Amino acid sequence: MDRATQRGEGAHPPTIIIPPRTLLVLCGPAGSGKSTFAKRLVDRHSSEGWQPTMIVSSDACRGLICDDENNQQVNRDTFDLFYYIISKRLYQNRLTLADSTALQADPRRHLLEIAQRYHYNACLFLFDVSLETCLQRDRQRKRQVGEQVILYHMGLLKQALLDAPNEGWYQFAILKEQASDIEIVVR
Ligand code: CTP
Ligand code: MG
Repeated sequence: MDRATQRGEGAHPPTIIIPPRTLLVLCGPAGSGKSTFAKRLVDRHSSEGWQPTMIVSSDACRGLICDDENNQQVNRDTFDLFYYIISKRLYQNRLTLADSTALQADPRRHLLEIAQRYHYNACLFLFDVSLETCLQRDRQRKRQVGEQVILYHMGLLKQALLDAPNEGWYQFAILKEQASDIEIVVR
């Protein structure tokens, strides 16, 4: 866990404090658990008014455009929509979770720029989950991306782990297999 994780006295699970004006960017290979983490987080905070609409998912955007969350032929329009919705949410001062792989520097830079434009703090949660776990989780789910894609993502993850700490994120945390243990406090 990095310096952004703040452990209260005897506190468990580990807690990360984020400001209300936060764009929380999830980053990690397919099957690393980003969408599951986002859903569980929103569920846990439902009593504070958190809603599933706080999660903007690139796969959901893909589905909205072409009825197929796996169709890689519509990437450009998918990400136009993804960034557009995120921008509109920040304009409305809404805490937002960006759920995409964000494994390449360009999409991360784009998300950072959107956050800066709306005077938001951009926090990056990087899912450093093993190849074996991603493969196993991918095999067990309905929408599967397959081994080749995940292997490719693992290479990008290695580079992202090197690059991301120096990209200018307000907070940067590396989440391992037990990501769902992390608690978020907004203040
Ligand atoms: N999963 C799990 N335990 C976790 C996290 C995820 O068993 N702690 C399972 C989920 O139920 C899901 C699969 O692993 O069936 C993949 O998780 P998902 O959240 O969909 O992974 P993503 O990182 O969102 O993958 P993608 O980039 O392909 O959307
Ligand atoms: Mg997902």
